[in-house]
Amino acid sequence: MAEQKATNVHWHEGDISREHRAKLLGHKGATLWFTGLSGSGKSTVAVELEGVLHEMGVLSYRLDGDNIRLGINKNLGFSAEDRTENIRRIGEIAKLYVDTGVLALSSFISPYRADRDQVRKLHEEAGMDFIEVFVDCSLEAAESRDPKGLYKKARAGEIKNFTGIDDPYEAPNTPEIHLRSDKMSLQEEVDIILAELRNRGIISK
Ligand code: ADX
Repeated sequence: MAEQKATNVHWHEGDISREHRAKLLGHKGATLWFTGLSGSGKSTVAVELEGVLHEMGVLSYRLDGDNIRLGINKNLGFSAEDRTENIRRIGEIAKLYVDTGVLALSSFISPYRADRDQVRKLHEEAGMDFIEVFVDCSLEAAESRDPKGLYKKARAGEIKNFTGIDDPYEAPNTPEIHLRSDKMSLQEEVDIILAELRNRGIISK
């Protein structure tokens, strides 16, 4: 866990609460945490879901591994420490979105269970919904898709510590949602997620 370095800092409460913002938007915020191998389809589901939610008048925002690593997390690589810091920062950012009233659609490999559990704890302690979505796909299927040609490079030894090849992926034990992206259609996956959001009263439509 990251150490609190700054001292003499105090939380400053405002007048407008999360409830006020939810009323303004007409829905609550929540984090949907997509986890799975590179090429498993995390971003594909998130993009599709974002479009459907937009049509429904629900505000969501995608936080995507590759995009975030080109910006706020550009100083992080793929060592275990850097991946942990990557997920810690995204967890905090997702929490800010939820506090704003937005649905954060977070798609990162997030290979370590402990890191994901830490983000879950962060949300739960703040009374926020954290929905872990395991985008489950066999390594064979992800590797045969290889949308960015990275598995090929990893097999050739051109990328070290590539998740699934020479770096671990710890699958969730009890995810709220378990998608089988190599067996389900995109529509089925989106419908399962929408049902969970309705069940929890996050969206009402
Ligand atoms: S995480 O492990 O820290 O959660 P993240 O989701 O941010 O990873 O980034 C993964 C993306 O970075 C992959 O989809 C892939 O495009 C790229 N990538 C580059 N090198 C690696 C690597 N060694 N392991 C996994 N993904 C990598």
